[in-house]
Amino acid sequence: MSDPRAPGGAPPSAAGEAGPLPGAPLLEIADLRVAFASEGGVARAVDGVDLAVHGGETVGLVGESGCGKSVTALAILRLVEHPGLIAHGSRVRFEGRDLLALAERDIRAVRGNHLALIPQEPAAALNPVLTVGSQIAEVIRAHQHVTRAVAAWRAVELLTSVGIPDAEKRAGQYAHQLSGGMRQRVLIAIALACGPHLLIADEPTTALDVTIQAEILELLDGLQRRLGMAVLLITHNLALVAERTRRVYVMYAGQIVEEAPTGALFAAPAHPYTQGLMAAVPRADRPAERLAAIPGQVPPATAWPSGCRFHPRCPFAWEKCREEMPPLLPAGEGRSARCWLLAERQGPDAKTPSPQGASGGR
Ligand SMILES: Nc1ncnc2c1ncn2[C@@H]1O[C@H](COP(=O)(O)OP(=O)(O)OP(=O)(O)O)[C@@H](O)[C@H]1O
Ligand code: SF4
Ligand SMILES: [Mg+2]
Repeated sequence: MSDPRAPGGAPPSAAGEAGPLPGAPLLEIADLRVAFASEGGVARAVDGVDLAVHGGETVGLVGESGCGKSVTALAILRLVEHPGLIAHGSRVRFEGRDLLALAERDIRAVRGNHLALIPQEPAAALNPVLTVGSQIAEVIRAHQHVTRAVAAWRAVELLTSVGIPDAEKRAGQYAHQLSGGMRQRVLIAIALACGPHLLIADEPTTALDVTIQAEILELLDGLQRRLGMAVLLITHNLALVAERTRRVYVMYAGQIVEEAPTGALFAAPAHPYTQGLMAAVPRADRPAERLAAIPGQVPPATAWPSGCRFHPRCPFAWEKCREEMPPLLPAGEGRSARCWLLAERQGPDAKTPSPQGASGGR
């Protein structure tokens, strides 16, 4: 089995050794479905997602581009824009409330208050005609009864707390006057303005260079420890997930295909897709040319394949995979995977299908 902990193969933190947490989850999503009507047909971007985050824990959501991670995040906050629709029957419970049933006014009170999002596109998320200080102050005033002057002062404090030097001057500037790293810090400041209980961080460091990435992650770690908030970390970066999360959800083609405690997932991924993702991660002890990328691409959301959606790319696929969609099946303690191999291994006529043209390294 390959070890994706890269670079240098650092072991996952103790946070990776995760049993189930007691008590009700802070966030609980059940059968979440989001579709977009487009010229090419209906794009079922998120198609029956179940996911939970407990208070204080960091949970990873990973998968290739186009698998539905950001749409899931937006749907949790009910920020999916036209022509996207969240299907009836989808459930998003946060702190015991059904967010999909709330009036617009009530969901606005939840957003940015107890539940905050660092969106994937920092440039698009900031208003170009308002100073960054006034944007932070606006969020504070939307949720707290404070004067303009107090909100402005808190905005400067927040900019300082996210490591922006000369925060008073920066508060009076516009997004285009700041570097990418500073814009990301401003978004973190906006997300943290009201002390959220859950922060959804959608690729919080992807657009940044390595040094700034490390600084931002350190900043988030410190804030999380200080505020005790839970984090749903959405990323392509498996090394980040190995280091920082307690549990992981792997998403493919609009569905969760594997869920596991982080340590267990990295020790032995159960789903062939997760195995493929891990085999494609560079490692210090493996030459780059031996990386095994998953063949093919994520199909468009308007045309998910029949049966198991991963079957056209899966080296283990057989007839049943093309015809029947596997449910999430138990894959060990606290874990599950959407793969017929698990049923085959557990069944009376257990068989171990061999890879058809599988690449090495698995
Ligand atoms: N406004 C939209 N209209 C039509 N389809 C959309 C829209 N937004 C998202 N989609 C579709 O939903 C699917 C999932 O998109 P999403 O942005 O959630 O992917 P992602 O997993 O976050 O990818 P990335 O890793 O690149 O951020 C994609 O196939 C995309 O084409
Ligand atoms: S169900 Fe079949 S095609 Fe899908 S991941 Fe498992 S073996 Fe591969
Ligand atoms: Mg995304």
